[in-house]
Amino acid sequence: MDCRIVRDLYVKADGELPCDDDVGENVNLGYVSQDPSWNIHAHFSSEKQRHIRNALLSDEEPWPEYCPKCPLLRPNDIFRDTISDRRIETLQIEPSIACGLRCPCCSQPVQVKLRPKPHIMELETLRSLLRSCRDHGYAIETIEYCGQGEPLTHPNFAGLVRIAREIYPETAQRLITNGNYDYHSKIRGELLDQIYVSCDGVEQASYEKYRRRGKVSAVLKFLADAAAHNGDNAPEVTWKYILFEHNDSDPEIAKSHQIALEHDVLLLLIITQTKYKSARFTAENWSDLLMIAPSARIGGVPGFLRYGANPWNSSVVHLHNHFRSDFVAAGIGCDRILFHPNEVLLIEGWALPADKADPLTSVEIAVNGTQVPVCLNAVRRWDVSTDDLWSGYVAPLRTDGNYGTEIVVEVQVRTESGRSEEAKFSTEPYRHVHLDSAMAVRTPLADFHRLKRFITKARAMCRPRV
Ligand SMILES: C[S@@+](CC[C@H](N)C(=O)[O-])C[C@H]1O[C@@H](n2cnc3c(N)ncnc32)[C@H](O)[C@@H]1O
Ligand code: SF4
Ligand code: SF4
Repeated sequence: MDCRIVRDLYVKADGELPCDDDVGENVNLGYVSQDPSWNIHAHFSSEKQRHIRNALLSDEEPWPEYCPKCPLLRPNDIFRDTISDRRIETLQIEPSIACGLRCPCCSQPVQVKLRPKPHIMELETLRSLLRSCRDHGYAIETIEYCGQGEPLTHPNFAGLVRIAREIYPETAQRLITNGNYDYHSKIRGELLDQIYVSCDGVEQASYEKYRRRGKVSAVLKFLADAAAHNGDNAPEVTWKYILFEHNDSDPEIAKSHQIALEHDVLLLLIITQTKYKSARFTAENWSDLLMIAPSARIGGVPGFLRYGANPWNSSVVHLHNHFRSDFVAAGIGCDRILFHPNEVLLIEGWALPADKADPLTSVEIAVNGTQVPVCLNAVRRWDVSTDDLWSGYVAPLRTDGNYGTEIVVEVQVRTESGRSEEAKFSTEPYRHVHLDSAMAVRTPLADFHRLKRFITKARAMCRPRV
């Protein structure tokens, strides 16, 4: 039996350390103290922590009153403890439990009424925690600012980020926010590695059905400002869009996808299990979303993975050839074919003009002779080109699932001056490699920090022949 509590640490605004951030909030495991003698290692060595590890190792629920209802329990997964090796995968900080919004499924209003103060994390609490982690040799992979309120209601959110950066300079820091704020005055130029902006829709009428009191125009501005943030302190921005019954229409999803592409942010569509959940898109047919938003990533809430049956299972086929070496008008690459459930195929690749003054105007794709209806040439591929911003394509195709043993992808591109170039890619023979988590179902184009390793090669390929 497994649970991420043996890898994670969750700290509430008042310094309480509960059994993670869901049902286990009812179980107190300790408190962070600002006293210099406070010791994180003693916390992780406590009787309760030993009890959690021993119970999971014996295939027993640590807290029979709570674990059966907790979406974080993994009854069939293999126990994987990193805390004992002094490695915290995610340290979740709750900066504040205040929030200006009133999302109907959120526990925030109840928590504000019932929980003891402080409701805003004191900077010294975070400093004490991180110093103790550092002094006792704990590595921290990611610090996540989230919790049960809105992190940006903290009056000095940037101060928290600065303290964490001072004590753990290499640790990735991620903010999850509703984004109803001015980006620059909240972040104040501090280095956040990732920002997830919860924005469930693009129309005020649908957005405010769940994000009550929120303004979608303010969130889209926050998203755009975060995405436009350049230089060393630029964050990787993800638009987190929870699919509800009121925001799951094709036009609203397609419009969001288009805006996400324009701002160069990753659109993450979430299938939830709560009240108001989308009836159109479920864990069974999630890949249909790729026909509307081909470059989006699709995820679900933790409860979906409870019994190990992974509804996000997809597989990837690596192609026999990825590009030719004798291009004239344009370089064309095809990286992979993703097989998603519900017989949806996604072809991912790139195309670059040989001459930057003669840009590409179209990309057409046929898969085993069938023309792919939607073909996008509007995706940034940092791994291929830094100066040609929109060099990637993603082509979704619904199939009958009957492809024999070989898939042939034909790509034709045209340039502004009328030149054209064609390339053929095949899988011969092919083997499905399973992608085993929702997070793996992502297109490389959105992986902003990927090395630009193909760049020299791609440029060389595109050089005109003499
Ligand atoms: C309590 S919120 C705190 C962070 C911030 N206030 C926000 O809303 O993004 C934590 C997370 O829950 C998500 N969330 C809110 N309502 C949800 C729902 N009905 N289903 C799934 N996730 C939900 C939010 O989008 C956010 O990512
Ligand atoms: S499953 Fe149990 S041990 Fe794990 S976080 Fe939930 S309450 Fe805690
Ligand atoms: S914005 Fe976040 S914290 Fe605020 S009510 Fe909505 S889900 Fe809860």
